[in-house]
Amino acid sequence: MIPILTATNISKEFISTEPLGLFKRSTKKTAALNNISFSIEKPTVLAVIGANGAGKTTLLKLLLGLVEPTKGEIKLLGYDPYRERKKIINQLGFVSGQKRMLNPDLTAYDYISVSSLFYELEPQEIETRLHHLSELFEVTHRLHSLVRNLSLGETIKFEIIASIIHKPRVLFLDEPTIGLDFSSQSTIVSLLKQYHEEENVTILLTSHYAKIFKLFPKNSL
Ligand SMILES: Nc1ncnc2c1ncn2[C@@H]1O[C@H](COP(=O)(O)OP(=O)(O)OP(=O)(O)O)[C@@H](O)[C@H]1O
Ligand SMILES: [Mg+2]
Repeated sequence: MIPILTATNISKEFISTEPLGLFKRSTKKTAALNNISFSIEKPTVLAVIGANGAGKTTLLKLLLGLVEPTKGEIKLLGYDPYRERKKIINQLGFVSGQKRMLNPDLTAYDYISVSSLFYELEPQEIETRLHHLSELFEVTHRLHSLVRNLSLGETIKFEIIASIIHKPRVLFLDEPTIGLDFSSQSTIVSLLKQYHEEENVTILLTSHYAKIFKLFPKNSL
């Protein structure tokens, strides 16, 4: 069976330019990741924990195929995510705790219903799944509220629902619990674990909270 994910000796170096006086620019190299290897053989929930600047977002960008590794190889669902992104994009979901996807001027219901059409789902299928996921994530009572009026915890839950409406096989979450208290963090993690049990989806989330280790007794990098 093809492993879900293999990362072999991946490194990422960013090259950026910075102004040096009026007319000159200097080139700066930043080693964001250095020789990382790991693999996920079967559906699991995994936490990647690291300090600010450790390279967590860079790792997710590499796995999602948004940037190319400087060295090494990544295979996600059997494909190179950078070169063959189109072949797997519909099987991936992504949530960023730092960047909002939901439009604050719409209700969560309207935003998710409309954005789901990109996945070529039937409207009835979207409706059924949206109601099921809202029940699972305990936000049915907030479905028709404007996104701007939701609490942070509710917003994150709807961001997660929007990213799994199309039943991805792999879900990446970059700091999904940022800004939440420990009790809300553990609620989000246990709901994700519940969703993993239900759909057998692979979930990889990043965090810089060392305490979140406690919620992942075995599965942490
Ligand atoms: N596009 C870029 N150009 C240049 N340097 C970058 C770029 N993206 C990230 N970096 C650098 O790579 C390193 C890792 O950054 P990254 O954002 O992956 O860390 P992180 O673990 O997600 O941090 P945080 O917890 O603060 O989100 C940092 O030193 C950062 O400045
Ligand atoms: Mg980050």
